[in-house]
Parts: sequence; C-alpha cells; structure tokens
Amino acid sequence: TKHYNVAVLAGDGIGPEVMAEAIKVLEVVADKFQFGLTLTPALVGGAALDATGEPLPDETLALCKNSDAILFGSVGGPKWTGLAPDKQPERGSLLPLRKTFDLFCNLRPGQIYPAFADLSPLHPRVSSLGMDVLCVRELTGGIYFGEKGRSEDAAFDTQRYSVAEISRIARVAFAAAQKRSKKVTSIDKANVLQTSILWRETVEQIAKEFPDVALEHMYIDNAAMQLIRSPQQFDVLLCDNLFGDILSDEIAAIAGSLGLLPSASLNGSGFGLYEPAGGSAPDIAGKGIANPIAQILSAALMLRYSFGEEAAAQAIEQAVQHCLEQHIVTRDINPKSTYGTAAVGAAIVATLRQESN
Ligand code: NAD
Ligand code: IPM
Ligand code: MN
Repeated sequence: TKHYNVAVLAGDGIGPEVMAEAIKVLEVVADKFQFGLTLTPALVGGAALDATGEPLPDETLALCKNSDAILFGSVGGPKWTGLAPDKQPERGSLLPLRKTFDLFCNLRPGQIYPAFADLSPLHPRVSSLGMDVLCVRELTGGIYFGEKGRSEDAAFDTQRYSVAEISRIARVAFAAAQKRSKKVTSIDKANVLQTSILWRETVEQIAKEFPDVALEHMYIDNAAMQLIRSPQQFDVLLCDNLFGDILSDEIAAIAGSLGLLPSASLNGSGFGLYEPAGGSAPDIAGKGIANPIAQILSAALMLRYSFGEEAAAQAIEQAVQHCLEQHIVTRDINPKSTYGTAAVGAAIVATLRQESN
C-alpha cells in the first residue's frame, strides 16, 4: 500500500492548536482511504528559537528533506519581533524553507459558496453572486528576496524579477485557468514599477501558449477595490510575491475569514509545503477558539497535490462544507458561536467517519 512521510511543523501561536485538528482529520482519511501516513513533528519558528536558539534547526531541515511533504502551521509573534532579522521566525524559517525547496508557486483558492453567502462580510447584493478565485502567487522572488539594507536613518528593499521567474509562475496560472473558467487577471503596478512592466510583457508572451485563456491586466489598487465591489468577475489572479500576499488576505476575508483559507506552495516536483494563509494569530492564541479549517483544508491540498489522493482530499473538503452548512463554526465567522477549535475539528472528523459506513 502507498505510504507518505509528512514533516509536521506546527510552529507558534495557534499553529499547534489547529494542527492537532488537521492531524486527527488526516488519520481518519488515511484509515478510510487505505494509505499509510507517517506524521513526524519538528520544531520551527519561535518554538524552535526558544528550544535551540535557531528558528530553523538543522534537524528540522533534514526531516523536511527526507519527507514527501511539509505540513506547516504558522510562525512568529510579539515575543520574537525584536530579534535580528535573520533570527526572526518568519524570515529565519518560513522564507528559507520556501527558498530551499524552490517553492515558487503558491496557490490560494477562495470561494463564496452561494449557500453560505452569509459567511461573507460583503453585502448580500454582492456575496449572493458568489466568488470562486484562485490566487496564484509568485513565492520565491520579488521584494521578499531582493537586496536589503539598513543604516541608522534609512533602509531599502529591492524588487527584481527575471523573465524566467515570471514565465514559470505565469504558466502555472494559465494552466490552472484552463481547468477553471479560462480567465487570468494579472496584477501589477505597471504604471509605476519597472518590474511590473517586465511582468506585463512576459505574461503577454506566455499567454500566446494558452490561446483558450482570456488575459486581462489590472493594477493592484484597482484589483483590491474590484475584489470587494464584484469578486465574481475574477477566476485566476496572477500575482507577484507581495501583491499576492496582500490580495490573498483580502480574498480570505471576502470568503468569510482568514481562518478558512488554505495554501499550497509547490515547485513542480510533487513536493510541497502546505499552510494556512493566515498567521499565528497572537490575539487569540491559547484560547482554543482558532478556526482549524484553513489548516485542515491545507492538509487536503497536500493529499491532492503531493500524494494524488484526490478522493481523500475531496472527502475532507465535503466534510468541511457539511460543517459550515450546520453552522458549526468558530467565532471568527460567527461572533455568537460557542464552538471552539476542537469542536469544529471533531465535527469534521465525525462527518468523515459517518460517511465511511
Ligand atoms: P494573523 O494572520 O496571525 O492574524 C490576523 C487576524 O486574523 C487576527 O485577528 C487573527 O486572530 C485572525 N486569524 C488568523 N487566523 C485565524 C484563525 N485560524 N482563526 C481565527 N482567526 C484567525 O496576522 P498578524 O496578526 O498580522 O500576524 C501575527 C504573526 O503571524 C506575525 O508574527 C506574522 O508575521 C505571522 N504570520 C505567519 C504566517 C505563517 O507562518 N504562515 C502567516 C501570516 C502571518
Ligand atoms: C503568508 C505570510 C508570510 C508572507 C510571512 C509570515 C512571511 O504572511 O504566508 O502570507 O508574507 O509570505
Ligand atoms: Mn500573508
């Protein structure tokens, strides 16, 4: 039988709380769909810093290299923000992991299902029309990884993009659109930025390889506005690293909560890192009220993209939908709800178990 090795890096804040629920879900589907899973935990981020002095210990990196995929929680928090840049959990662990494994492609799918339009904070006039977008975010280039510098009274970050970097992420976006509604909206700031002008030119070239997909360009400021005004106009959003970071939080909020949005970070080899789009949520950490759905859906994306276990991935997604239908949701979605992290996780597990009978 098939067997998969997963490095489980829960990290900080709500990371361990939501990861516990994702693990329960994975164990149920492994049993139900008859595959083997070895889930090996390791320290990362602030938790690793506190224990070892390093945000990404060698042991953790070695485990990741020997695994078929990484299931990641979240890292960072107020405790560590004063540290030197390379020691900080985010820049010292998550960004190096993305770079080490060349995870240039970050997929963040967000939906408003018409039946759950009331989850969205948008006016029903807009939310009732639904939303089904895929944010394709370049993840290993741009301003995150360009030359940086700091003197006493000034600082800089550099944005560089090459044709090769833009081409490979654009191809992913067009190929994804071919399997969806055949539209790519490429996001840039080509009225100001040199990198955006190159981005636009390069995307135009790649579009010729995909004649069945419609391409439009949109400035980032307008896109941020259009997403709220009429999100149903979008299919695939092709973004650079920074714009994709920002728009994906917006997409999550439109869908109902940052706690719902999963992500897959891929390099084209089958290996991947899977994590919620949101962070360690220090404001609610330790209270047992974090939404575990983004972490659980990230596990589903792992089953789909790294392991090809499509039926198991769909079973998880259906169980999540069932849970939303029953209004078994945490407070980020319904402030009046009394369900916590474990109750939502348990409801999803129970649904998966029932379906196997
Ligand atoms: P955040 O995403 O942690 O939280 C933003 C808001 O969304 C908070 O009000 C939080 O409570 C809420 N939220 C996020 N996830 C939620 C969930 N699952 N359930 C319910 N509510 C949820 O962003 P922030 O506060 O700007 O950052 C906190 C820390 O997390 C920072 O150190 C940041 O760098 C880090 N961060 C890490 C990752 C990652 O590891 N992948 C991603 C984003 C931010
Ligand atoms: C995300 C996060 C990260 C990013 C941070 C924690 C470095 O916000 O995955 O969206 O900016 O990419
Ligand atoms: Mn982000």
